[in-house]
This record gives sequence, C-alpha cells and structure tokens, in this order.
Amino acid sequence: MTDRIKIALTKGRVEKQTLPLLEQAGFNMAPVRDNKRKLIFDLPDDPYTVILAKGPDVSTYLSQGAVDIGIVGSDILTEQQNQAYELLDLGIGKCQFVLASTKDFDPKASRRKVIGTKYPLITQRYFAEKGEDVEVVKIEGSVELAPLIGMADAIVDITETGTTLRENHLQIYDRLQEVSTRVVVNPMSLKQHRQEIFDFVDRLNEVIKKPQAN
Ligand code: PRP
Repeated sequence: MTDRIKIALTKGRVEKQTLPLLEQAGFNMAPVRDNKRKLIFDLPDDPYTVILAKGPDVSTYLSQGAVDIGIVGSDILTEQQNQAYELLDLGIGKCQFVLASTKDFDPKASRRKVIGTKYPLITQRYFAEKGEDVEVVKIEGSVELAPLIGMADAIVDITETGTTLRENHLQIYDRLQEVSTRVVVNPMSLKQHRQEIFDFVDRLNEVIKKPQAN
C-alpha cells in the first residue's frame, strides 16, 4: 500500500474557497463537507489525507515535516518566513495588507506610533522601509478594535471585502502587498513523494487554468 500524502488545509475562508476547486479537480470532498468537528479525513479513491488546521499551524506543520502539502495564505507564509516550495498560486483568498485607522489618525505625526497587528514581522518591515521606528503590539484577532479602544494608533491587517473596516469606521492610509492562497510543499516530501504531489498539483492546476464561472 502506498503512503498517504498529508495535505494541511487552512480552516475557514481558505477551506471554503478551496473545496469547490478540489471537487472540480475530481477529488471526493464529501467527508470534509459533512464535517462537524472532525479534523482528519482520508479522501475516498485517492491517496490523500486532508488535515484541517489554522493557517499559522499549517505553516508550522510543513516546517516540521508533519505534512507534505499545505494550502495556506501567502500572508502567513511571509510572516512565518516559511521555506516551503510554492507550487501553485490558487488565485483565491485574495486580499491586501493595509495600514488603517480612525479618521483622526495622522500618518505623518513625528511621535513614535503604536501599531496593532497579527503580523509583527510584515509590520516591522513596512515601517523599517519607511525609516520609521514604531512599537508593534501583537493581537490575535479582531485587530480593528485596537485603534477604537485607544490601544494603538493604527493597524496593519488584511482586508478582503473592506466590510470590517467600513463597519468600524476605519479608513485605509496605505496599501501594502497583496495576498492569495498558495499550495506549498515540504522539500523533503517532494523528493520522497514526487509523483503523488505533482499529480495533486497538476489536477488543481488544470482547474484554475480554466476560466471560473462566477
Ligand atoms: C480578517 C482580517 C479582518 C477581516 C477583513 O480576519 O483580520 O479582520 O478578515 O475582512 P473583510 O475586509 O472582508 O471585512 P478574519 O476574519 O480572518 O478573522 P480574525 O479577525 O478572527 O483574525
């Protein structure tokens, strides 16, 4: 029996947008669709096991060699300086990093600013490139709260539809890099399971090359 290839798929938005692509590629994703709280699924008819995990953990599992393939946002790969090989940009999960705050924020103010973010490395790099020294405060979720409760002068976060910023009366002061969902592979796995990994990537690639109906 061949070893099953382990694929870590980021739970939530990435999972939701990736499942239809996997189905169009002919994978039977019913076990994942029917899921309540289960975390590991052997795909029927194919030698792949899908593991649902949070984005930062997908990146960690890859680095540790615990999974062969990861499907995860480029925001997380950049922030974690993940060395996995990127095999495919799925062109989904598209969003953008922005600097945002309340309307009274002055990006040119000379005093040292406090910036709230889930992405301290990307934030430090952004301000370092501008030659500005800031205090970065790591926040785990709902980053938009930070300027609203007076905990930060501004935030660096990703935005997709812009709804969260709008609903919380925050405005964009600068746009940083764009983000999308990537298929990445552990370099050791690629040596050991080249065939199965490329079969998986080729099937997905065929789907994303076709124009998608909206
Ligand atoms: C992300 C991001 C924003 C939101 C933006 O958070 O941190 O809060 O999405 O999306 P929008 O522009 O479509 O409104 P996510 O939903 O991933 O969860 P979190 O706040 O718990 O980190």
